[in-house]
Amino acid sequence: MFEKLKDQPEDKIMALMALFAGDQRKEKIDLGVGVYKNDKGLTPIMGAVSEAIAVLNATQKSKSYVGLLGNVNFIDQMIHLVLKDSVPRERVVGGQAPGGTGALHQTLLLIRSLDSNPRVWISSPSWPNHSAILKHLGMNQLTYSYFDQNTCEVGFSKMMTDLEKARSGDILLLHGCCHNPTGANLSQEHWIELTKFCLERNIIPLVDLAYQGFGDGIEEDVFNLQYMASKLPEMCLAVSCSKNFGLYRERVGTSLIIVSNKKEHKVAEDNLKSFNRLTFSFPPDFGAAVVNLVLSECDSNRIPLVEKWKLELTDMRSRMLSLRSLLADSLMRNTKSNRFDFVANHRGMFSLLGLSPDEVMQLRTEHGIYMVGDSRINIAGLNHNQLEKFSVAVASVI
Ligand code: LMR
Repeated sequence: MFEKLKDQPEDKIMALMALFAGDQRKEKIDLGVGVYKNDKGLTPIMGAVSEAIAVLNATQKSKSYVGLLGNVNFIDQMIHLVLKDSVPRERVVGGQAPGGTGALHQTLLLIRSLDSNPRVWISSPSWPNHSAILKHLGMNQLTYSYFDQNTCEVGFSKMMTDLEKARSGDILLLHGCCHNPTGANLSQEHWIELTKFCLERNIIPLVDLAYQGFGDGIEEDVFNLQYMASKLPEMCLAVSCSKNFGLYRERVGTSLIIVSNKKEHKVAEDNLKSFNRLTFSFPPDFGAAVVNLVLSECDSNRIPLVEKWKLELTDMRSRMLSLRSLLADSLMRNTKSNRFDFVANHRGMFSLLGLSPDEVMQLRTEHGIYMVGDSRINIAGLNHNQLEKFSVAVASVI
């Protein structure tokens, strides 16, 4: 039977990782997959996370199952971290899942199970896996324009023109912050307008939140989605701890479903449990237990782990912001134009540079610089010593 297997479409980010690994050049630069790196090009385990791992290893007495929803203390911590008190706790249902992708998948399973199997609107462009997962689940997807190629910022009026075609009950997939791949974020005014739009048109937002703390701050990055959550009767979130806790391979994430009243809470929770049972049974526990410890541990003799984690995350964010403004300067000098000034305004790990596929290829073959084919760079993949080399190379291909 296996002779009937069909080739699967390649994920361009995964394919790029393999190409980079196979390149023997010493001076090669990896600006591909969205993994944070420090100035030495490493992705170390965060200090607060290491301490929590040590505590957990010393105190955990059993590896028996936890529960179908996962670690409920972790879920509580995540609800607090993401939503604070913008929504009454009894209206928020959480279900742990393997990473942000798992959370997205489980949330979409729940949405797909509705009689209406709603249509999902995704930004153009978006993280390629959004469209791939929707296709895999057989869900209807539509795109809304997001990025203005001329300004390299959000083209909001075009976005709203596209969304005019949305029907009551449709799902609007938004990036909570640090838009992937563009790096261009919706402003506070945009979020306010979108909230009004969703309310008036009965559109349900599904917010993919994979980079809290990588943009403007841990609190600042969720301020707008909290506003939206506080105004709408229903909303979904898929939250990842891969990047902001550096727990990529541990697969830590959670679905958060905001229901309109207390009565719907139990049935939504039962649905999340059931979809977990049918997909992987129990979500992986270790990473979630670590995050729970980081966010909750408070030993009066030591600095609380949460404070350490916040400081580390602040350092990571500051490094990316510094790289952004230095890179914009360096590109201005080398290209003798202000074409790339937007890099300093973008937030998070990514910026879409607006290079052609040929230029991207030339950077790869001639300079060993790897970025995704659409010219998305991971700013955290650069170190301060490589900025000039990178800008000179970009100037030479455009
Ligand atoms: C990315 O966009 O590079 C990351 O989110 C990693 C991934 O899974 O694609």
